[in-house]
Amino acid sequence: MTAIKNVRAREILDSRGNPTVFTRVELTSGAIGTAGVPSGASTGEREAWELRDIDDSRMNNKGVLQAVSNVNGTISSLVVGMNADDQAAVDQAMIEKAGENKATLGANATLGVSIAVASAAAADSRQPLYRRFGDLFGIDNPTRLPVPMFNILNGGAHASDSTDFQEFMVFPLGVDNFEDALRAGVEIYANLKSILSKKNYSTTLGDEGGFAPAGLDTITTLDLICEAVEKTPWKLGDEIFFALDVAASELWRKEGHYWLERTDQKKWSSAELIDEYKNLISKYPIASIEDGLDENDWDGWQLLTQEIGDRVQLVGDDLLVTQKAEVEKALAQKSANSVLIKLNQVGTVTETLETMALAHANDWGTVVSHRSGETEDTTIADLAVGTGAGQIKTGAPARGERTAKYNRLLMIGDELGETAEFRSPLDIDRA
Ligand code: PGA
Ligand code: ZN
Repeated sequence: MTAIKNVRAREILDSRGNPTVFTRVELTSGAIGTAGVPSGASTGEREAWELRDIDDSRMNNKGVLQAVSNVNGTISSLVVGMNADDQAAVDQAMIEKAGENKATLGANATLGVSIAVASAAAADSRQPLYRRFGDLFGIDNPTRLPVPMFNILNGGAHASDSTDFQEFMVFPLGVDNFEDALRAGVEIYANLKSILSKKNYSTTLGDEGGFAPAGLDTITTLDLICEAVEKTPWKLGDEIFFALDVAASELWRKEGHYWLERTDQKKWSSAELIDEYKNLISKYPIASIEDGLDENDWDGWQLLTQEIGDRVQLVGDDLLVTQKAEVEKALAQKSANSVLIKLNQVGTVTETLETMALAHANDWGTVVSHRSGETEDTTIADLAVGTGAGQIKTGAPARGERTAKYNRLLMIGDELGETAEFRSPLDIDRA
């Protein structure tokens, strides 16, 4: 056993220039672990609570000094002296004090400590973090690198004035190895930039590093991305597929319909939106659709899954918020067939791994994900490998907070050498 000796947090900045929590955990052996907590913009209603100061005199009312003080006070007194190898016990101690949905302590407080403890335990046993996650998840020797989803065009809540759908991603499911997948992402991204410029669209960037021009509808966007892929050696529908994050909770209007400003200005029902997806997947090699419907539209999700769940990965993000109880509900209702994994939606490593284990036990896909507000922290790269998730989404292949994760996967690939595995996570007809 190696005991936790010291726990300290401070306020740092995320990629949007907003404050977030940085945590450092030191063990009695001298081993150190750190964590930078991410933050979302299009957050789900049922996510664990991100604690922000109510103080409009500093940091645009977004300070996290209370969360920091919860780490340095309450959480530190709880966990100092505990065994860093017992991740579940450390997390459980925090869960018990954190209150309903972590609202008392803040999920940004608990998550920083949880990750930093895992990372310190890894350093203590001189193993990389992905192996530590493997141990915690029950995978002895994790060797699987995830297929990345590159978000090359940003809309919705991540870019003002851009597309209705939030994320247009390229998903190199049929490429042989991680390095080639990364190369495909880089080349398609660069091609898209020159195509947009040539057609007089702006190449300004959205929050996740993808382009965010004004004046694009869904079809035009998909056609532009097809053109960008066609200029590379990789084949659309064979090696390169698309993944969409509609983030439909942002399109839902409380009057009881969806609103797609740039597609067709009418009141869309769930069934009509599902028909739109059917139309899109018949024309484009779309392998994955995330949050195709609103987070409370459970009937719609059931229909969506019945209609296209055999052909397309249907990922629940806002719908499932990385929480086991929501995945259980979706399994019972046959809604969705995959879950997005964001550590800060639930607030501890242990609970995240439990949700992933439940998904895998039911042959669901898991997509480990960043948030739109990120730091240089690369934990999610290790989490994806350690759990054999098979998929990661961490933005465009550009901007430091995004490339940090891709670069970390390159390093893990080097460590794994010949043993590295890379294969399509989807056994649906399309891939
Ligand atoms: P968020 O976006 O981090 O702003 O929630 C990411 C996503 O919706 O997948
Ligand atoms: Zn999403």
